[in-house]
Amino acid sequence: MTHIQWYPGHMTKTKRMLATQMKIIDVVVELLDARVPLSSRNPDIDTLAKDKRRVLVLNKADLADEKITAQWEEYFSDMGFFALAVNAKESKKKSGATNLITALKKTMADKVEKQKQRGRINAPIRAMIVGIPNVGKSTFINHIVGRAGAIAADRPGVTRGRQWLKVGGEFDLMDTPGVLWPKFDDPMVGIRLACTGAVNDDILDRITLANHLIQILESLDTMILQKRYKANTLETIGEVRGFKMKGGVVDLERTAITLLDEFRGGKLGRITLELPN
Ligand code: G4P
Repeated sequence: MTHIQWYPGHMTKTKRMLATQMKIIDVVVELLDARVPLSSRNPDIDTLAKDKRRVLVLNKADLADEKITAQWEEYFSDMGFFALAVNAKESKKKSGATNLITALKKTMADKVEKQKQRGRINAPIRAMIVGIPNVGKSTFINHIVGRAGAIAADRPGVTRGRQWLKVGGEFDLMDTPGVLWPKFDDPMVGIRLACTGAVNDDILDRITLANHLIQILESLDTMILQKRYKANTLETIGEVRGFKMKGGVVDLERTAITLLDEFRGGKLGRITLELPN
């Protein structure tokens, strides 16, 4: 199995920064990629946010299998999280993001009640988005905050210069998301993340990666590749597409790039690469 290298130095620094920022946060919104909910989840967050309220967002739900996303939502809610599917590129009405406000309110209900009893009404709740690179944190922040949030003021007494964005009047969102590093303890995690484009292609050569993707897709449903290409190996897909080099040999590199691009762009359909349990 291919071994994927990562950068522990960078990881330590980021973790330390996150731990500091966490101190002023009430609720942590963890973004996952709905196509790979476990692989895109950094378990360090459980330690970093252990005293915090948590909401899980299965983002890019538009690219994932709807039925399996529903199973994942159930899986995570059985674990005690509020979990919701979102497509941060959709319009607000359709994206599922309004459910986030509901989830945030629910998860904070007892704390808000306590504040009320102490006479602190309307103290905004402070939230932070966290997730591994490329999971859609910036897109999601822009999506839920909109234009109104961009004029939120500095809060005195906390990190100088830190901006807070307003979400629906009741929440303040830290403007910079917490970036976690993916965990590659299991090589398949790296492969799934590379398939979705979350980590750079060049951690693996593209032909190897595309062959892994083919294996995963075939194990999910043998019709996925058949439907689009009427073929189910890199070689035959290349043939069908007419990707030939001099001498009539199939250009596997070009085929691999095409397959990966088409998968990532949703052209093979809405596909989730890992199933609960
Ligand atoms: P990050 O801050 O977590 O690193 O992620 P970022 O928001 O930059 O998003 C990474 C990529 O994922 C972007 O695509 C973004 O458009 C896309 N994305 C984010 N949320 C969703 C979603 O819910 N559904 C889909 N289909 N895509 C989503 P990109 O190719 O890097 O840029 P662009 O094509 O948007 O210019």
